[in-house]
Amino acid sequence: MNTVVDTALIQSLDSAHFLHPFTDFKDLSSRGARVITRAEGIYVWDSEGKKILDAMSGLWCVNVGYGRKALADAAHQQMMTLPYYNSFFQTTNVPAVQLAAKLASLAPTVGDRSFQHVFYSSSGSESNDSNVRMVRRYWDLLGQPQRKVIISRHNAYHGSTMAGASLGGMSGMHAQGDLPIPNITHIEQPYFFENGKPGETADEFGVRAAGWLEEKILAVGPNKVAAFIAEPVQGAGGVIIPPATYWPEIQRIVDKYGILLISDEVICAFGRLGHWFGYEKFGYKPDLVTFAKAVTSGYIPLGGVMVGNRVAKVLIEQGGEFNHGYTYSGHPVACAVALANIGIMEQEQLPQKVHGEIGSYFAQRYAELNDHPLVGLAETCGFVGGLVLVKNKKTKERFKDDDGVGMVCRGHCFGNGLIMRAVGDRMIIAPPLVMTRSDIDEMMRLIYLALDLTQRDLKARGLL
Ligand SMILES: Cc1ncc(COP(=O)(O)O)c(C=O)c1O
Repeated sequence: MNTVVDTALIQSLDSAHFLHPFTDFKDLSSRGARVITRAEGIYVWDSEGKKILDAMSGLWCVNVGYGRKALADAAHQQMMTLPYYNSFFQTTNVPAVQLAAKLASLAPTVGDRSFQHVFYSSSGSESNDSNVRMVRRYWDLLGQPQRKVIISRHNAYHGSTMAGASLGGMSGMHAQGDLPIPNITHIEQPYFFENGKPGETADEFGVRAAGWLEEKILAVGPNKVAAFIAEPVQGAGGVIIPPATYWPEIQRIVDKYGILLISDEVICAFGRLGHWFGYEKFGYKPDLVTFAKAVTSGYIPLGGVMVGNRVAKVLIEQGGEFNHGYTYSGHPVACAVALANIGIMEQEQLPQKVHGEIGSYFAQRYAELNDHPLVGLAETCGFVGGLVLVKNKKTKERFKDDDGVGMVCRGHCFGNGLIMRAVGDRMIIAPPLVMTRSDIDEMMRLIYLALDLTQRDLKARGLL
């Protein structure tokens, strides 16, 4: 396929017509967007021919890597057979059914929680809207309509629809559009590096951070709380990995007050943490599990919710008609691609790889970054990694927001052919799960290079 494009023309059409997500439109227009034209394996290329190692898997999506013909073939075949049909009026389609059964077989039972049912959408945001609808319906059906409040966390990301952005804890999003919507409230995130007290261990902090949930439940009134929603590891918030004690204590608290637990695994499922689902990694028992992104490795939009037995039983046996759904719920082409994608993950044992030797190698190499003078703490969980850039390693002194250190570092990453994301002063990665040892070595070489160049710039600006 010809991927040669007229960059200037595409950029001018882009700024004339395309309003990008999470973008300052005027600013982008003055610079011109980077035009990505093709991809293969773990690399993408731009319209100027620059080859870039994509250590973010697109946007935490492309777990099986780029250029997988099997996924294109699955889409082609399904489009020629049945490109679309809805699943509203007592109809179904083969790929949607097969995928639901497959997902049910992959989602492990934990304690008394099992997952036999799937509700489909086309994105993570929509799936979290569906969660809000299901949670409220569940409590209505149980005769507790006053249980409306959903507790989430500051700096969480749960999407960009009205409910998704409200569930999320991003202050910049709340500031635009009068969010959160009513009955959604937030507690502090389990970010030990920032919120741990002097002398406190990570494990002690984990218990204390989980305790904020209990405090909030008591403040709201236990009989008004419907659910707690959280990502196993916060992704878009900067890869915030909770201490080992956090999730067990959260489980104890949600059990104590009987509230539903929603595990938003839009990033953490499908091998990302070394398991099919993120809750397996931490061993907690969610009632609803949000998925999207890597279910198709991002090749085509698909999202959904794994509905646990506790909620499914009530919705199915007592619910009558559930007045909620989407035109593309159970889209046959998206489901066919997801089946092919999961087939690749099974065949190549990608979750096992991340859980095993290659994941350990990544963890070991990434941990070496802790010796770099600019790095306050570098941590991984499965195939996600985060690090915080600091002014002073010993005192943990941070840079000011205005210093824009993350953006400086991100610029050097891109300049040298690496996509690493900046979230404030945190640099994060989520590489494709197909990475080999030598791919990891190459990625680390580029990360070190970017850190060294960032250090040089910060010294030149008198910030170090
Ligand atoms: C944890 C989490 N939930 C929800 C979403 C929203 O997904 P989408 O952008 O597909 O609506 C994201 C997106 O990054 C996410 O990371």
